[in-house]
Amino acid sequence: MHPDGEKIVLTEEEIGKRVRAMGEEISRDYQGKEILCVGILKGAMVFLADLVRRITAPAQFDFMAVSSYGASTRTSGVVRILKDLDRGIEGRHVLIVEDIVDTGLTLNYLVENLKSRGPASLNVCAFLDKPSRRLAPVDIHYNGFTIPDEFVVGYGLDYNESYRNLPYIMVLRPEVYGKGK
Ligand code: PRP
Repeated sequence: MHPDGEKIVLTEEEIGKRVRAMGEEISRDYQGKEILCVGILKGAMVFLADLVRRITAPAQFDFMAVSSYGASTRTSGVVRILKDLDRGIEGRHVLIVEDIVDTGLTLNYLVENLKSRGPASLNVCAFLDKPSRRLAPVDIHYNGFTIPDEFVVGYGLDYNESYRNLPYIMVLRPEVYGKGK
């Protein structure tokens, strides 16, 4: 394990097995349809890359980058779109792919925003769910793992842009992010 980690909560093997099962479930549900996977940068990149290779239904992907306006407006749920989709999604079967749902504010906003563009269907696929932190409701159709309120990194999730490339999910040692000193 990386020296900044306290413990590994999801191993590479556990992640691989779950992602494979999610890909199979999605492939069954979307039989005969083409999926447009919308990855939310940057965190979802690693999960999306693994997931799409486990989907046997026809699939395309596109990306969005969003950012909250800052601490004071965070709770309002307003997010700023830094990079929008390359193409329209009218009539498409859209699957939003996220690494983690925490407060739910980002996804709550994105779902409403994408719904207004007239997709044929819109579902959410999230690798991790931290329901104890929820402030806004989010309907997660495909959920990889539900985790407690711990500071986790790896598999796309960062602290200060680091650790995204770890192939497992670990809890970060508190002294690394400035607590417990
Ligand atoms: C993370 C994650 C979600 C969002 C979830 O992104 O990828 O987009 O936060 O949090 P919420 O449920 O409280 O809204 P982050 O802003 O850290 O950007 P990143 O993906 O580039 O790391």
